[in-house]
Amino acid sequence: MRQGVIRRFRGWLPEVPDHAVTTIGEGDTPLIEAPTLSERIGAKLFLKFEGMNPTASFKDRGMTVAMSRAVASGSRACVCASTGNTAASAAAYAARAGIKCFVVVPAGKIALGKAVQVLAHGAEIVQIEGNFDAALRISQQIAGDRGDVTLVNSVNPDRIQGQKTGAFEVCEVLGSPPDALALPVGNAGNITSYWKGFSEWRDAGYSGLAPRMLGFQAEGASPLVAGHDFENPETVASAIRIGAPASKEGALAAARESGGAIESVTDDEILAAQGLLAREEGVFCEPASAAGLAGLLKLAGEGRGPEGTVVSVLTGHGLKDPDVILDRVELPEPVAATFEAVAGRMERLVP
Ligand code: F0G
Repeated sequence: MRQGVIRRFRGWLPEVPDHAVTTIGEGDTPLIEAPTLSERIGAKLFLKFEGMNPTASFKDRGMTVAMSRAVASGSRACVCASTGNTAASAAAYAARAGIKCFVVVPAGKIALGKAVQVLAHGAEIVQIEGNFDAALRISQQIAGDRGDVTLVNSVNPDRIQGQKTGAFEVCEVLGSPPDALALPVGNAGNITSYWKGFSEWRDAGYSGLAPRMLGFQAEGASPLVAGHDFENPETVASAIRIGAPASKEGALAAARESGGAIESVTDDEILAAQGLLAREEGVFCEPASAAGLAGLLKLAGEGRGPEGTVVSVLTGHGLKDPDVILDRVELPEPVAATFEAVAGRMERLVP
């Protein structure tokens, strides 16, 4: 049975009374070898496939802790801003906990699968005529205004605590920390979380080392690379379309302290990396999740890629965002229901 990250890593996490533990069996996601892509980047690459979490993104690791502690403190509802995945996760965990869930999202800007998840779990969804950054400001205000409503964005430290467990799993499965970890950066909570996890693992004496943290933003939404906020962030990777990351300091500290970096990749590089993961390794992640690999490919191409063992965190499942695939590839026209018609197609594929 998947016990969930609170029971599995209890000693490492803030206290949660038994009665309040809200879990759907998150965590314990596969670390997948990537032989073909390893050759491309010149290092031994593993994919931490966070799309295998209950709501198909890494958000569930933090949400179980945030929601459990909201329940323990007597909250009646939770609120979050989201580019989609936080909303889907909050909706599911709130349903599980039996509290109300209120999500604020940029109108028309969240991927179809994520919107469907929010609706399926019965959360209240408010679309604003503004971007994620505005949604976060409003959500923080709402939670600040109401003592019985918990903010479940990653500015809630319980989210960071839960998400650091991804680092513990990587260390456990590899037997030691990798040399480098690559991941997408949006609001910058996850890179902050992974660095916290690797640092705690090292400080507990399990390893003398911690990996270089390599964070990648989409070029059109790369405030940490440019050194200033973006008023109108734009990228095909809707999950990381964020102009003013709330955990900016955590992300910069992770890069600095680990000897890593935060860089940007273009939308074309992101989509190419998503395609390679799907077509060469059989792993389908959403566009934002491919930013880590896009970055590794870029660094390798410039002769400055990391060596040794490298982990790329694939933060969300590809099924979350079907439109991004359908925009580029169409289903072919139907053919007659005959052997000849179908065999003709086969002949074209394998002459
Ligand atoms: N990858 C995916 C699939 C995401 O959904 C997010 C963030 C990130 C990467 C970036 O993580 O924000 O911690 O740096 N999604 C948030 C949301 C913003 O609302 O779902 P981060």
